[in-house]
Amino acid sequence: MVHPGLEEVAADEVARDHGGEVKRTAPGLVVFRVGEIDPLLLELRTTEDVFLLAWGTDQLTHRAADLDQIRRWTRGADWPTLLRIHHAVRPKPKGRPTYRLIAQMEGHHAYLRRDARKALAAGLLGKFPDSWRPAEENAAVEVWLTIDGARAVCGVRLSDRTMRHRTYKLEHRPASLRPTVAAAMVRLAEIKPRHVVLDPMCGAGTILAEHLAAMGKVRVPVAPALGGDLEFGAVRAAAGNLSRLGRAELFQWDATRLPLGDASVDRVVSNPPFGKQLERPEAIGPLYERMVREHDRVLRPGGRAVLLASDQRSVRAAARAAGWVRERELRVRVLGQAAVISVWRKAGP
Ligand SMILES: C[S@@+](CC[C@H](N)C(=O)[O-])C[C@H]1O[C@@H](n2cnc3c(N)ncnc32)[C@H](O)[C@@H]1O
Repeated sequence: MVHPGLEEVAADEVARDHGGEVKRTAPGLVVFRVGEIDPLLLELRTTEDVFLLAWGTDQLTHRAADLDQIRRWTRGADWPTLLRIHHAVRPKPKGRPTYRLIAQMEGHHAYLRRDARKALAAGLLGKFPDSWRPAEENAAVEVWLTIDGARAVCGVRLSDRTMRHRTYKLEHRPASLRPTVAAAMVRLAEIKPRHVVLDPMCGAGTILAEHLAAMGKVRVPVAPALGGDLEFGAVRAAAGNLSRLGRAELFQWDATRLPLGDASVDRVVSNPPFGKQLERPEAIGPLYERMVREHDRVLRPGGRAVLLASDQRSVRAAARAAGWVRERELRVRVLGQAAVISVWRKAGP
């Protein structure tokens, strides 16, 4: 499962980094097959959760007859194999095994979410050993049924909350980015270990954290990451979050007047404030223009910028003024608002 809008980036991570064969994507979903399911899958960075698929359909009727189908499909899935794989990948639970059934539902249906959950439970009757107990917290096995319109998927959860929330994120700031969205931006930036990466409006440092975490396993030296923010509290939060991840140099600064040399940075990856976060939302255009002009000054020719913003018209205007070439745009929702991740290249070798 992925944050809606990140399907293509997650599919690319699954295929290129984990050798997965992507079977299909749908909003919020990437369905794939891997030769061997091992704990490395839990290191995926652009996904919110990873499941073993029990069954899936895109032919729900929205009518009550769906419930009988849900029960039947669940009954027909190969639970012994799913549980065996789950136990091989997840740490062994202590004490008596527990399980939890979760149903999520979007769209208009002639039945309620709790009816769907009951159908799931009916399909699972007799599938787990009698000694297993239901539990609402920290269950050893979670079975999720996710319904979105005519589509439903049912699976056993392999990941836990640390996949989407990460373990480094101890310090939070308002408007802090979802780690999986930051990971997607870092991936789109196509960063090499020797690249100097800059987030000039770093907030709690999520983007730089994702960059350093992604570089965590490379065996060659990694250039230090650069970041800063107008607010000292943000710089302090970023320092806390990045401390265990790698080398980062952080500053309190104004991103429109950076104390950095011309052409000294290979990648800018950043999430500037949205217009609605400013006292005067109309100030966003001029801010983005000054910001992009400064990004352009510090970027090396051929360097890339990846920006996440909701005021995409202002980003485009500023990038056009700088002469940047647009490589890609991805629509996502951030903080309940439509936003765009855009990838730009500064002309040059
Ligand atoms: C949307 S937040 C960034 C969130 C960050 N990506 C995170 O995950 O925590 C935008 C940040 O830009 C900072 N900011 C706004 N204007 C700035 C400026 N002129 N120079 C530097 N930072 C600025 C704000 O203080 C805020 O922390």
